[in-house]
Amino acid sequence: MLFTHIWVFPMLRLEGVAVAYGAFNALQGIDLHVKEGELVVLLGANGAGKSTLFQALSGLQSIKAGRATWANVDLTRLRAPQIVAQGLVHCPEGRKLFGQLSVLKNLELGAYVHRLGKAELQARINEVYALFPVLVEKRMQVAASLSGGQQQMVAIGRALMGKPRLLLLDEPSLGLAPLVVKQMFEVIASINRAGTTVLLAEQNAHAALRIAHRAYVMERGRMVMEGKADALLHDEGIRRAYIGA
Ligand SMILES: Nc1ncnc2c1ncn2[C@@H]1O[C@H](COP(=O)(O)OP(=O)(O)OP(=O)(O)O)[C@@H](O)[C@H]1O
Ligand SMILES: [Mg+2]
Repeated sequence: MLFTHIWVFPMLRLEGVAVAYGAFNALQGIDLHVKEGELVVLLGANGAGKSTLFQALSGLQSIKAGRATWANVDLTRLRAPQIVAQGLVHCPEGRKLFGQLSVLKNLELGAYVHRLGKAELQARINEVYALFPVLVEKRMQVAASLSGGQQQMVAIGRALMGKPRLLLLDEPSLGLAPLVVKQMFEVIASINRAGTTVLLAEQNAHAALRIAHRAYVMERGRMVMEGKADALLHDEGIRRAYIGA
């Protein structure tokens, strides 16, 4: 694994972050950082709080306590569209496409906050098509008519249209066939190698740890472990709880 392009200073840093749904504390005392160039995995069972954390990072849930900084700016001072405009882009769990709009329209909407000219918009769409060639022939079809794997490609493509410096990917392999999952992880690794920093929430621990530099493990709203991906891949407790070997 190459670390040569990784900066020393974290681009994203959370210290003691808490998020609540009413009286329910969904996240407590979350410490996490991501450095430029890294591919970091967030593991955790159903309900651990992975999606809540991503929603808090992208301004969709409010941070109740602690400190969260993005490129040294206090995240709580930014609204969701500003967060995207500054390069922190969220590809949500369950894809959340506009099902009745075409693939192309879905992609264009991903660049909305940047208000691009025609040429730059087209250049970015071409980059997404280069990554997911099957979307070229599907571009005028409504998103809902695509297979699950193709819809996930549109969701990642739409996020890439926002020119992420840090891409938050929430369970991109959910509900996909094994072969499609394998291709999805290859694409995610290639997106990272091409220079985009990635924070990936996954239940597919083995495949995720194999492409990641570092990983965090969450349990019931708390961070319980952090380490190099290689080390977690061989950790007995992690194998038993998340890999099943
Ligand atoms: N809108 C909400 N209102 C109240 N509670 C919520 C809400 N969304 C999530 N929760 C609760 O917060 C906790 C964390 O949920 P979250 O969806 O963040 O977990 P997750 O790790 O993403 O799980 P999964 O792997 O199933 O996606 C769970 O107990 C969940 O029931
Ligand atoms: Mg989730």
